Amino acid sequence: MMLKNILIGLSTAALVAGCTAHGDNPGREYAPNMYHSVAYEPLSQIKDEQAGAWANSLDNGRGEYFNSNKYNPNWMNMREPAPHTVKRNPYGWLPYRTGRVSKDSIDIVTAGMKNPLDSTAAIVGEGKILYESYCKHCHGEKGMGDGKVADKYAGVANLKGDSYLKMSEAHIFQVITHGAGLMGAHGSQISPEDRWKIAKYVKALQKQK
Ligand code: HEC
Repeated sequence: MMLKNILIGLSTAALVAGCTAHGDNPGREYAPNMYHSVAYEPLSQIKDEQAGAWANSLDNGRGEYFNSNKYNPNWMNMREPAPHTVKRNPYGWLPYRTGRVSKDSIDIVTAGMKNPLDSTAAIVGEGKILYESYCKHCHGEKGMGDGKVADKYAGVANLKGDSYLKMSEAHIFQVITHGAGLMGAHGSQISPEDRWKIAKYVKALQKQK
């Protein structure tokens, strides 16, 4: 009787001690794969279908460690992009992270930035099409701030006004990306490449009579 009590006491103590978890001791876990999901490696993988067969808990006829996708090239788990997928950043440009700034600071944050595109007729022509989709309704066909929306939306800038004639293409890029004063940001709608094309067109527009 005495021995039985001691045994029960000892095993309870062992059980309780096993439950402690603190600091650098994760404690004991029962069936850990219930709460730690098995990671799929995107590129490297175990191709032997029987690897870990001794530990298999599913009746799929495979070893527990097999983690490949044999329908993908090289049995990798990651999928290849669909054919003709357009790269997000074909030029290798770094993300533009300037953020929204006050109108007075636009030239400071864009100092030294240059339009990476050439001033070819084709680029300016594409800029025109984009300007007409994204800017004309406020800034007007000629950039005079007299688009249809400007009838109701007061304060649209006349881009041919003296104070705007000297603004750099980087300044325009910043304004399109993050907005300025009363103008909202258009960065989520217009790709960086298209913003630079529009900047080219705005400069061309300013030179027109
Ligand atoms: C919804 C109307 C609206 C649209 C669309 C719009 N703008 Fe503007 N834009 C404004 C207003 C309003 C201002 C004046 C902001 C201020 O001074 O507070 C302005 C100002 C500007 C300025 C001068 C910013 C400065 O430094 O003072 C530039 C450059 C500009 N817009 C370019 C563009 C371009 C390029 C597009 C098209 C991608 C565009 N805007 C689309 C309303 C608009």
